Amino acid sequence: MLTVLLFLLSSTVCQGTNNKLTQLGHVEDHFTSLQRMYNNCEVVLSNLEITYVEHNRDLTFLKTIQEVAGYVLIALNMVDVIPLENLQIIRGNVLYDNSFALAVLSNYHMNKTQGLRELPMKRLSEILNGGVKISNNPKLCNMDTVLWNDIIDTSRKPLTVLDFASNLSSCPKCHPNCTEDHCWGAGEQNCQTLTKVICAQQCSGRCRGKVPSDCCHNQCAAGCTGPRESDCLACRKFRDDATCKDTCPPLVLYNPTTYQMDVNPEGKYSFGATCVRECPHNYVVTDHGSCVRSCNTDTYEVEENGVRKCKKCDGLCSKVCNGIGIGELKGILSINATNIDSFKNCTKINGDVSILPVAFLGDAFTKTLPLDPKKLDVFRTVKEISGFLLIQAWPDNATDLYAFENLEIIRGRTKQHGQYSLAVVNLKIQSLGLRSLKEISDGDIAIMKNKNLCYADTMNWRSLFATQSQKTKIIQNRNKNDCSKSVCFPAFAKAHNEMEE
Ligand SMILES: *[C@@H]1O[C@H](CO)[C@@H](O)[C@H](O)[C@H]1NC(C)=O
Ligand SMILES: *[C@@H]1O[C@H](CO)[C@@H](O)[C@H](O)[C@H]1NC(C)=O
Ligand SMILES: *[C@@H]1O[C@H](CO)[C@@H](O)[C@H](O)[C@H]1NC(C)=O
Ligand SMILES: *[C@@H]1O[C@H](CO)[C@@H](O)[C@H](O)[C@H]1NC(C)=O
Ligand SMILES: *[C@@H]1O[C@H](CO)[C@@H](O)[C@H](O)[C@H]1NC(C)=O
Ligand SMILES: *[C@@H]1O[C@H](CO)[C@@H](O)[C@H](O)[C@H]1NC(C)=O
Repeated sequence: MLTVLLFLLSSTVCQGTNNKLTQLGHVEDHFTSLQRMYNNCEVVLSNLEITYVEHNRDLTFLKTIQEVAGYVLIALNMVDVIPLENLQIIRGNVLYDNSFALAVLSNYHMNKTQGLRELPMKRLSEILNGGVKISNNPKLCNMDTVLWNDIIDTSRKPLTVLDFASNLSSCPKCHPNCTEDHCWGAGEQNCQTLTKVICAQQCSGRCRGKVPSDCCHNQCAAGCTGPRESDCLACRKFRDDATCKDTCPPLVLYNPTTYQMDVNPEGKYSFGATCVRECPHNYVVTDHGSCVRSCNTDTYEVEENGVRKCKKCDGLCSKVCNGIGIGELKGILSINATNIDSFKNCTKINGDVSILPVAFLGDAFTKTLPLDPKKLDVFRTVKEISGFLLIQAWPDNATDLYAFENLEIIRGRTKQHGQYSLAVVNLKIQSLGLRSLKEISDGDIAIMKNKNLCYADTMNWRSLFATQSQKTKIIQNRNKNDCSKSVCFPAFAKAHNEMEE
């Protein structure tokens, strides 16, 4: 027992794969990468995929594997024996074909002289989620002598496809001492150890014998050596040192005297099904205290006190997108119906934004449809444009540049005609509506020929400029005398805020 636990304590993990039936390079390279991945591995963090192994290969390196978090796929192999002798538990966090935690498929050579004969997974006693599919393995023995219902979680009714097409008469019989004639192969060492169907009614999960005192603790998976949560062969949820637990010790604890959350000195992060003091190298910590490969979409990665963490974004997470003139939009003149979707969820645009009349007209030559004005809403998330903003066309019934109401900064690193970082020309808008604009870092502005636009020339543009040399060209907009106060609104936040203060 002690050896089992010590083994687990220092378990070495490997990532596993998600290639399904894809062969990586030549069959030799495929085998080499298999060997490199699983050599010395005890816990596979994703899936264990053993595929395209030729007849004479030595797979003894697979003997170290004890736990697989995802699925196990054994397919298209010609090798005789796959010795997964120490595999105890398949968690099935990810399933093959959406259904199977264990899939053993088509392991034979075309001429049927070679193929997988033995799969002695004599310690496999738990599949927490998902079913089993065994199909098209003409040489494989003893899959029919395994009591699969002792391994899978029958209460969840997983899909199970057992098609033992092999020539069973030539297969070894189970050793006479095996319980109820269940085994993984020849010899007493290959007897299947039953840990569920034999249990006393009092047991809530697994057991190590038939009497009530043989019940395992309910945190145990696979089986146990005694009644306590520290006697489990594997853990259902999490392993904290040698003990199975429902959750890892929390990182913070509520302090009822101070009404605050205090750091828990015993706190640990969850890493797969294990509790750890620190996340392994290259993993990031989430709010919930788990170690992940990458932060999810509403969080971003930062380093705090030497720990890489996922932090919740304040509003929308920053997403940098290419603007006009950059990457796939190089040489494009205008935002249009074909490319506008690439601006979804962008907070920062690296490049320019030009909206020209062609956008709304469409263009038969480049097979561009007319832009639906509603689509302009994608720009509502934009806070920063590194180049210039040029608008020469806009929906006629829009009273302002509403889609850019959250735009905070125009850097003007590239300028229209080498001069302008903001140009608004020939629109029907009554006000600019650039409520959030705080800075135009470089370049001049041109606001011209907008026949309904009021007050653009009375605004304090200089307060937005970052340099002394920036100029404004505000001409041919609505005649000042025709502008009535009831029609016009402050054009941007500065004015707005000053009024409120
Ligand atoms: C079957 O294929 C294997 C591997 O290519 C080859 O070694 C063997 O000779 C073949 N047997 C027959 C009967 O064709
Ligand atoms: C099945 O195995 C027996 C014994 O090895 C052999 O005589 C028989 O030809 C096999 N049948 C098939 C269909 O392979
Ligand atoms: C079966 O097990 C018993 C005791 O567990 C042992 O004495 C006996 O030798 C075993 N039988 C065989 C055929 O090995
Ligand atoms: C519209 O955008 C697509 C993709 O960026 C581009 O291929 C096409 O030339 C553009 N059409 C016009 C008229 O700008
Ligand atoms: C945009 O963000 C929403 C909400 O976070 C998300 O559901 C959606 O998939 C994102 N779309 C793109 C194209 O990034
Ligand atoms: C502008 O007109 C379109 C239909 O042509 C309509 O869907 C949209 O709501 C209008 N926008 C405003 C701001 O009135």
